[in-house]
This record gives sequence, C-alpha cells and structure tokens, in this order.
Amino acid sequence: MKILILGNGAREYSIGRAIASEGQEHELFYMPGNGATGALGTNINIKDYNELAVWAKENEIELTIVGPEGPLVDGVVDIFKSHGLTIFGPSKAAAQLEGSKVYMKNFLAKYSIPTARYIETSSIEDAFKFTDTLSAPIVVKADGLCGGKGVIIAMSHDDAKVAISEMLSGKSFGDAGKSVIVEEFLDGYELSMFAVCDGDDYILLQAAQDHKRLLDGDQGPNTGGMGAYAPTPLVDEVLYQKVRDRIIAPTLEGMKKEGAPFEGVLFIGIMVVNGEPITLEFNVRFGDPECEILMPLMTSSVSDMFLKASTNKLSEIKVEFSKQYAVGVVMASENYPYSSSKPAEIILDEVHHEEIEKYTHISYAGVSMQEGILYADGGRVLVCVGLGDTIKQARDRAYMRCGQVHFAGKKLRTDIAYQAL
Ligand code: AMP
Ligand code: GLY
Repeated sequence: MKILILGNGAREYSIGRAIASEGQEHELFYMPGNGATGALGTNINIKDYNELAVWAKENEIELTIVGPEGPLVDGVVDIFKSHGLTIFGPSKAAAQLEGSKVYMKNFLAKYSIPTARYIETSSIEDAFKFTDTLSAPIVVKADGLCGGKGVIIAMSHDDAKVAISEMLSGKSFGDAGKSVIVEEFLDGYELSMFAVCDGDDYILLQAAQDHKRLLDGDQGPNTGGMGAYAPTPLVDEVLYQKVRDRIIAPTLEGMKKEGAPFEGVLFIGIMVVNGEPITLEFNVRFGDPECEILMPLMTSSVSDMFLKASTNKLSEIKVEFSKQYAVGVVMASENYPYSSSKPAEIILDEVHHEEIEKYTHISYAGVSMQEGILYADGGRVLVCVGLGDTIKQARDRAYMRCGQVHFAGKKLRTDIAYQAL
C-alpha cells in the first residue's frame, strides 16, 4: 500500500516502523516527518490540507494515518474524505472530544460515563462558588488545546481561584481559557487505554502507563511524557471489562447519537480509584510515548488494522498481540520542557550485543539530519524501546540501549515502569 503519515514525532515514527516491518510491499510518506523518518519513507512538505489531499490523490495514496490532534481538530479528515480518500482519524466534529474539554465533560455527563464531579463555566462567581464545595487539591482546566499545559492542580482554594481568574481573563491561555472546568481531584493510579474504532466497533489495545513528570519519582514539571510501558499488570480482566462496558461502549453509542460517529483512536486517560475506572480525559489520537511501546507489541498487521478501521470493517479482523512487555524510555534535550536547545550531534554506539540488537530499537522524534549526521534538535529527541518476557527484562534492555546513545545535554528518567516493579 502507499501510505501517508501525518506528524513528526516518535509516535509517527513508530507507526511507520511497524508498517515497514510487516514485510509487505508498502511505500511510506511522511508529512512533515523528521530527520529519521527519511529512512522509512519519503518526507514531503505540504502544509495546506486541501493541497495535501490533491497531492495524495495524484500520488494514489491508499491510506492516510493522522498522528497528532492538531490536524484532526482542524478537520483534515473531513477534507480528505471530501476528496474520496481513505484516512484514519476522527472527523472535526468527533475530534471535539479532545479539542474542547467542555464538550468532553458535557458529553460524559450526558451519557452517564464516570468522570470527576465538575462545573463548566465562564462565570468567575460560579467557578468560585463550586470551588468552595470541594476540598483541596482542586483541578482547574482550560477549555481548549493548550499543548498539555492547560491543567492546574491547585493545592489550596486560594491557588485554585488565582488559576481560575487568570484563565478566565485570558491571561494564561488566551482564548483557550475563556471557559474553564473546575473539578474534584481524583486520588488513584493513572492508566492510558486505547481503543481503535471504526464508528461502530473497536479493538481495545493493551493498557499502558505513561510518566508525565520530568524527573524520577514523579517530580518536576509536566511534560508530554518521559516514558511508558505496557501491558501493565495493574489492569486485570475485570477492569478491562469495566472500561469496555462503562466507558468505550457508551462513548461509541453516544457519538453516533451526536451525529459524529467516532473513527480513529480513542485515547482514554483513566484514574482508577478504589478499583473503579474514572474518565479523566479523552484524546482522539495515540499517546506519545505510549504508541511507541504498543506498536511493537502488535503481531498482526498494523496497516490492515488502520485500513479496516478507516473503512468500517474492524469486525472482519482479529488483532493479535505479543506475549511480551515493552518499556520505552524518552531521551529529551537539555532544556526540555522549558525552552529549545542547541542542536547536538547524536552518536550511536555500534550494536554488537545480540540481546540489544534483537530486543531493542529506537523511535526518533526531535531530530534533524544534516549532511548525513543526525542531530538532537530539541524537545523529546528519541525513545529507546526494550522488549522482554517480563517488565524488568524489557526495562533493563531499554536502559541498555539508552547507554549507547550520546548527545550533549541528554536527559532521561531512570525509573520508568516503577509502578509495576
Ligand atoms: P488532562 O489533560 O485532563 O489529562 O490532565 C493532565 C493530567 O492532570 C492528567 O494526566 C492527570 O495526571 C492530572 N489530572 C487531570 N484531572 C485530574 C483529576 N480530576 N484528578 C487528579 N488528577 C487529574
Ligand atoms: N503521553 C500522553 C499524551 O500523549 O498525551
């Protein structure tokens, strides 16, 4: 198949890597891709979605896979479909589940899907009044997309009120904060679950855990994610079934009733409180770095899963998973997540060790290629992935691989998967 992948992160790299390793004849294109995706396919640079759709049509692209939320919320799927193209991802209307936290919370309430008690408002008085009914910590969220920074966990009522005032005045997030959600703090453990959906049916992938804070022991600022592992032993069949019955099934039914059937990846951020899964948030795309560890655990065809999901035929296939575990450790650049960093040459040791060669690999994100040399180019640079028969073995292997990657200022957590060990 000729396949176009939208995005430039390690998430998109890992999807392309999984497809390239299927051993079939696939031709991959990335828009825009990164300094390493050129080894998997061809990077192109057409930013306008209409022009891109015309290009896809002319080049007989059979399937387009959208990685990040931005193009989805902007309606790239609707544009591609209007050109008669096959594309994996939700429509602009369905992408509101991520694009607007207010839409998401109101949807959850309407269809009785468990979520934290909340108020959605643009009135400062109402927000303050509701805040007084909660006990600290208190969670304050801006409505729109804020690159993962729109959530404040306030440790006191006063801090919560400051956050509310700053959001509603437009000071902290501009228009994205013109409406806020104030909600109760849920105390439990967090999971990332992914359902690949075709509007009617879905396939639930293995549950993963992300590590959002920059530093070991879940300290430091929030990031896009510093590492992940799957499947997590914190989820048993009973919990999977609760997530299916109480969250995924009613969401697919509800979205159909809303006239926006959900196609694409439904990423459910879950807090498990006393054994009960509560929906923290929805995203309408794969998690990053969760995707990087889920892709190598799939033993059936990844490209076929995306194709069937894009053509309402998921019920025709059976998706299979390896019995192994995967651990992914993110290496970020010096100033992440605060500011950009100077490009730094990446030096990779030659892999001689059979175990490392066989059971580890790298998915690349913030890298550029200049005259054949790969540079760390800011943000999250790459993810070292290890596979193993146990989480510990997978993790040891991932860290062995990390030891073979060098660039100035490299930053990583040393405790990925600690909750499972
Ligand atoms: P969100 O963007 O809504 O997923 O929020 C980002 C992070 O904030 C989540 O991954 C959680 O770690 C945390 N968070 C969000 N809402 C809550 C809540 N109601 N209770 C506890 N933690 C929360
Ligand atoms: N890893 C969390 C996210 O992609 O939002």
